[in-house]
Amino acid sequence: MNNFIVTTIRKPTEAVEMLAKEIALKLGGNFVAREDLSFDALKTIHGAENILLVKKNSLSVVTSEGELFFHPNTAHLRIKNLRGGESDRLIDALKISSGSKVLDCTLGLGSDAIVESFVAGKVVALEVNPLIAEVVSHGLKNFTDDSPHILQAMRRVEVINVDYGEFLKTCADNSFDVVYFDPMFRHAVKKSSGINPIRPLADNRPLTKEIVAEACRVAKNRVVMKEHNGSSEFKRLGFEILDGGNYSSVAFGVIDKA
Ligand SMILES: C[S@@+](CC[C@H](N)C(=O)[O-])C[C@H]1O[C@@H](n2cnc3c(N)ncnc32)[C@H](O)[C@@H]1O
Repeated sequence: MNNFIVTTIRKPTEAVEMLAKEIALKLGGNFVAREDLSFDALKTIHGAENILLVKKNSLSVVTSEGELFFHPNTAHLRIKNLRGGESDRLIDALKISSGSKVLDCTLGLGSDAIVESFVAGKVVALEVNPLIAEVVSHGLKNFTDDSPHILQAMRRVEVINVDYGEFLKTCADNSFDVVYFDPMFRHAVKKSSGINPIRPLADNRPLTKEIVAEACRVAKNRVVMKEHNGSSEFKRLGFEILDGGNYSSVAFGVIDKA
């Protein structure tokens, strides 16, 4: 993982400083007192690439591409649309409903997991990068500035900081209804600048056929992958591309269990 330090806002309360020290211990990073130093100064002094910043009610990571913080992002509008009777392409691709068991292998900023949780009720979401996992899992548990049904959906997402390949090996056959992958796009979609701060942290390794085979063993109904429209990843990994979203930059592929 990238070299990082943990610090706080300037003039932190005792509780904020204590949380920062706890997180540093948990993640195996150094806690550094903020004093009056800028992020650039802290990075230079400590030779750190990233700073995990503990604020009064939230966490963020200061990366070379900007600050990564938790926010429901597109989940807010997507859930509003679902409540209004509209469809959602991911939910249609996953074919889930209330009570479905969902394994989301690529948490990222958590928007997809929140929408899945709103529909299914409970989601297990995996994230290999410990800084992303910490910031997003803290946000899912503590974010308050949204409507109750969205906050409830956030609280039901269980985040596990683990590599999906390792996790899948530990799962029993057919133990989730559906397994979902949203890997970092093989060819970065530049215009989605909202996720730029995730890029220096996110794991870019491509999915492998072996991991897809494991996912097929673990999924009872189907395995779903999101990739950019026209991606050769669908064919390489054996996914059938779903119709729809002709004008969208992303597409969904599925592998159905017989
Ligand atoms: C494109 S983002 C997912 C975005 C997410 N669907 C959302 O709605 O915000 C991909 C995420 O998967 C994570 N990831 C990549 N490889 C992984 C692996 N082997 N195990 C677990 N997480 C992984 C990356 O670190 C990154 O945070």
